Amino acid sequence: MTMQERLASAYGYVREQTDLRPELGLVLGSGLGDFCDRLEETAEIPFGDIPGFPVSTVEGHAGALLLGTCRGRRVAALRGRVHCYEGYTPQEAALPVRLMARLGARTVVLTNAAGGVNLDFRPGTLMLLCDHINFAGANPLAGPNLDELGPRFPDMSDIYTRDLREKLKPLAAQAGIQLREGVYAMYSGPSYETPAEIRMFRTLGADAVGMSTVPEAIAARHAGVQVMGVSCITNMAAGILPQPLSHAEVVECAERVKREFTRLLELMIDIG
Ligand code: HPA
Repeated sequence: MTMQERLASAYGYVREQTDLRPELGLVLGSGLGDFCDRLEETAEIPFGDIPGFPVSTVEGHAGALLLGTCRGRRVAALRGRVHCYEGYTPQEAALPVRLMARLGARTVVLTNAAGGVNLDFRPGTLMLLCDHINFAGANPLAGPNLDELGPRFPDMSDIYTRDLREKLKPLAAQAGIQLREGVYAMYSGPSYETPAEIRMFRTLGADAVGMSTVPEAIAARHAGVQVMGVSCITNMAAGILPQPLSHAEVVECAERVKREFTRLLELMIDIG
């Protein structure tokens, strides 16, 4: 099946399950899956049931697409996502967000866990993405262009919509949430980066590094969808502290920050 066919069959299947037309898409990364409990749900569809959909294999990323309402908005939420390090192409990693765009979403909120490259960050910092560096080695738009979604050569100069960021910052401050802003670099994984790679990323202007989000952001922007991105800095990146990195540390920190992250997500839903 081509990407176009996969998207068409996924779209057709979801349309059969619910009439709800989402205005907003949420991609819930590590530790945020519980946010789905806040949705007044009309449908919960396991990734595996959706024809053409990639299926998440990572623990803690039990994949399902939920459609419902939250804070008065019609929302499509991905509980879990697929990553390139699972063996999926960037095209496959971007398919769920393209589906959200086809279903009607005009804004997507992308969340992730990331390593802090900026030495001013601490584990627990929430970072609003203002830009990214695609170091994954491939682009989700490679291959035949899906003309019905967007142009062959889409502009990426305002990929993380500035207007939304400017709206969000004072609201976060009022809510007592310390929100930093920075550049996210995507590394393919699944091994964490080496200390030399982290020094390189810092030299290149990255503030955080992670293994997701970039294919989704590019695909959303291609489809004319506004993007907001937030990283939870769960650890300092490799080589900064005299200790090895561990997935357990990432999960533990994401859990600790969950309440604040959830509050921020609510604000993003309100403005998105
Ligand atoms: N590197 C890449 N991805 C990550 C990290 C990291 O240090 N922490 C959480 N996700």
